[in-house]
Amino acid sequence: MTVYTASCTAPVNIATLKYWGKRDKSLNLPTNSSISVTLSQKDLRTLTTASTSSEFTEDKLWLNGKLESLESPRTKACLQDLRKLRAQVESSNAELPKLSTYKLHIVSENNFPTAAGLASSAAGFAALVSSIAKLYKLPEDMSELSKIARKGSGSACRSLFGGFVAWEMGELTNGEDSKAVEVAPLSHWPTLKAAILVVSDDKKDTPSTSGMQLTVGTSDLFQHRIKEVVPARFEEMKKSIIAKDFEKFGELTMKDSNSFHAVCLDSYPPIFYLNDTSKKIIKLIHKLNELEGKIIAAYTFDAGPNAVIYYDEVNESKVLGLLHNYFSKLGGWESKDLTKLTKVEIE
Ligand code: PMV
Repeated sequence: MTVYTASCTAPVNIATLKYWGKRDKSLNLPTNSSISVTLSQKDLRTLTTASTSSEFTEDKLWLNGKLESLESPRTKACLQDLRKLRAQVESSNAELPKLSTYKLHIVSENNFPTAAGLASSAAGFAALVSSIAKLYKLPEDMSELSKIARKGSGSACRSLFGGFVAWEMGELTNGEDSKAVEVAPLSHWPTLKAAILVVSDDKKDTPSTSGMQLTVGTSDLFQHRIKEVVPARFEEMKKSIIAKDFEKFGELTMKDSNSFHAVCLDSYPPIFYLNDTSKKIIKLIHKLNELEGKIIAAYTFDAGPNAVIYYDEVNESKVLGLLHNYFSKLGGWESKDLTKLTKVEIE
């Protein structure tokens, strides 16, 4: 039996300008463009191996050693698109094995606890798409592949690239122009660092898709955010990255995290992702910046209470020292088995 195999890894990305709101739920088309920083493969990544053979009788997916259902329409949409592209390649070269007609076996592992409440679906779908694209020997056009990963999980489209990435929302109803593009490679700003504070490893309160639908349908503030705030911030943030202007980048990152959590609170009924510890982190970072007389650290929070803190390497001891000092004194901080403060590289 001939089995064809390919493996790929994809890292987690953390948005500094948040995607929140869908204009098309099944295609995962967003109501605003977003920007993210891709973290290092060493710290938080998914490794996926895709295999195919004429002998396989059904598509199968193992996630962290557990056989998962492949019935989700999102995974199906990704597999369908990849098979379509492979079929096009096969139709132009009759010698190629007809892999597009074979079943797939996909094995996916995270090198971080899935329960840590960190965006695992982004890395998961990005690794799924890139490993199958490699198996099928599809052209390595990451923006093209990002459109497929987007159908799995919106934010996954940004994990196809390392470094600084923009997801351009696009205008078309078929999503052909809603794709990820590189803003700058990692090498552009190697001194930018990130620390993750795992505040809680509980499962998300409100999953992102239902949270977004609730916000789009009920928040008045949301209209202001997507029409007035984000379009200008998108351009400004790209400029701050190109200029390696940490103060501007940090200010925009914190403001956008706050704006995202504000539209969550403005949803009806409201959605709360931040907890008291998250709020303490926000206050502490503002206090630190105030004492320094400039922005040297910036927080951002996704759909959960865990913080990602961005800082420049020159300020590492100040930023991490303060966080350690402060939070190691909190009850329960050291007692859980997850790393509470993880310094991660950016990739
Ligand atoms: O891609 P999803 O459906 O997991 O949504 C991600 C939403 C945020 O993490 C809150 C923001 C973002 O841009 O990643």
